[in-house]
Amino acid sequence: MPDLDTDVLVVGSGPAGSSAALALATYGVQTTVITKYGRLADTPRAHITNQRTMEALRDLGVEEEVMAEAVPQELMGNLVYCTSIAGEELGRLHAWGTRPDRLADYTAASPSRICDMPQDLMEPVLLHNAQSRGAKVRFDTEYLSLQQDDDGVTVHVRDRLRGDEYDIRARYVIGADGGRSQVAEEIGLPLQGQMGVGGSINIVFEADLSHLVADRPSVLYWVLQPGADVGGIGAGLVRMVRPWHKWLIVWGYDINGPAPDLTEEYALSIVRKLVGDDSVKVTISSSSAWTVNHMSAERYSVGRVFCAGDAVHRHPPSNGLGSNTSIQDSYNLAWKLAMVLKGQAGPGLLDTYSAERAPVGKQIVDRANQSIADTSRLFDALGLLDTSDPDVMVAHMAARKQATPEAEKQRAGLREAIAFKDYEFNCHGVEMDQRYESSAVVPDDTPPEQPARDPQLYSHTTSRPGAKLPHAWLTTDHRRQVSTLDLGGHGRFTVFTGIGGDSWVRAAAVVGERLGVDVGAVVIGPGQEYDDLYGDWARVRGIDDGGVLLARPDNYVAFRSAGAASDAEAEAALEASLRTVLDRAEEGRA
Ligand code: FDA
Repeated sequence: MPDLDTDVLVVGSGPAGSSAALALATYGVQTTVITKYGRLADTPRAHITNQRTMEALRDLGVEEEVMAEAVPQELMGNLVYCTSIAGEELGRLHAWGTRPDRLADYTAASPSRICDMPQDLMEPVLLHNAQSRGAKVRFDTEYLSLQQDDDGVTVHVRDRLRGDEYDIRARYVIGADGGRSQVAEEIGLPLQGQMGVGGSINIVFEADLSHLVADRPSVLYWVLQPGADVGGIGAGLVRMVRPWHKWLIVWGYDINGPAPDLTEEYALSIVRKLVGDDSVKVTISSSSAWTVNHMSAERYSVGRVFCAGDAVHRHPPSNGLGSNTSIQDSYNLAWKLAMVLKGQAGPGLLDTYSAERAPVGKQIVDRANQSIADTSRLFDALGLLDTSDPDVMVAHMAARKQATPEAEKQRAGLREAIAFKDYEFNCHGVEMDQRYESSAVVPDDTPPEQPARDPQLYSHTTSRPGAKLPHAWLTTDHRRQVSTLDLGGHGRFTVFTGIGGDSWVRAAAVVGERLGVDVGAVVIGPGQEYDDLYGDWARVRGIDDGGVLLARPDNYVAFRSAGAASDAEAEAALEASLRTVLDRAEEGRA
């Protein structure tokens, strides 16, 4: 007999595991988290928290708590390329949507703001809220193995304090146990790519650098020095953890040689080199070695076991996509598990998790690794690739100051190389526009999207099924502004219609009742509870006033119909769509 029984067992309390627990607990699912250590993340690691993640956290009711601790967008953006923090500046890039034109794009795309939230602050917000909503958490509990059968999964664990081993029985398991996932290995997920393509070290330290950065607040200061292009993430990096006294350095090493001996003396020498001002008092907090990986899983689940986060996509921190994608995996999976467990959906809905998220995982792994490769453009522009002699390198960098045609070419090359880093630091389309194709989306007969601008750099709004519900600010009769995203989500389906779309509202009630599923209805227009006074909704909704968008609990468009319909037509169309999405055959119940 198992010692503990739960509906969902989550292995791991990182961003993937703690957000899975938060979403499941919010949806009322009995959830237990086990995690190997007696603590949450003890180093800052992930920090850039993009708008799509913030939208998910907004829906789960913790956005304000995160914003209260995060560094806001306006302090994130003066990304610097320099020879050291105190040394010469080579160029800057307005990053994370802070360039005026990009700020408009970022602001228009979402009700939520990008922010900088260190992982060791994020995990407690996620997990504590999960606990306060009913999730149980067992620290010092290590996953050892699992066995699946038709009804559930038996997970064998070790209590690391007492030393004994016991079994936990769960209907479903989420393996969110990170980049060395034992769960993914045990269920044999097909992982493609390579681990250990580069060597890297993190050094966390305290130092008041306010006087060096006050005029150019940023979360990332990139240092181009001899040796900075070896391994690692393309160059030396000094990252702000807390303004402006706590920092994290990322420095590479040759993966084909031994990892450096991480003594305090060694760590201090790297800090001194990258800060460039020996008068600054420095206290080393910790240092650790890690590897750059290029690997993703083609499928994320086997039977009743699902993996999320670094367990299924392993890549460098470039573009800041790791924890974001991990949280978004869990947000995608949680409502599906909740509906299957509540008997509202058939098991086929769970297959859509892999179908929707595995392509995203591959995309972001490739993107992050490409961003490292793109950094060599900077070294190339400065003439640093054809020599490893430090004196020659310094001379080549200085050459750009001369009044010669070659120097002018060099200056132009450097500007272009820095601007090209938009693909790492202003990659709004990759951050926001994940499109899904699966049986949880009912395609319409419209042609594929033709993005007007580069789809990696720019986010494009569409209401085509499989895209995120477009955001628009609406007004209410209580003189409040709400985003369309605020009206969807909350663990339920929602129909969005306008004047003349009453049949869709009636259909939502009738079909929802028939299928035992909560289907909300929002009518937008003059004289309704929500009005589109700016006209923004009309511009992005992609349907007529009397048409409908059906949003899933994760605010993705599951189905749309362009125009008004009779009661019978609306009921039939909505029921057919929900049955498809929920894997509910016409006859009988799931
Ligand atoms: P994660 O590794 O965080 O958590 C795994 C969990 O499983 C831990 O709680 C662990 O204790 C537990 N566990 C492991 N084995 C277990 C076992 N056998 N039994 C029980 N528990 C077990 N990402 C991003 O989005 N934006 C960013 O800006 C950055 N920046 C960044 C900088 C640096 C320097 C690094 C190294 C990484 C980033 N990242 C990032 C990446 C980010 O840190 C990473 O993608 C996430 O931590 C992944 O979250 P997971 O929850 O999947 O795994």
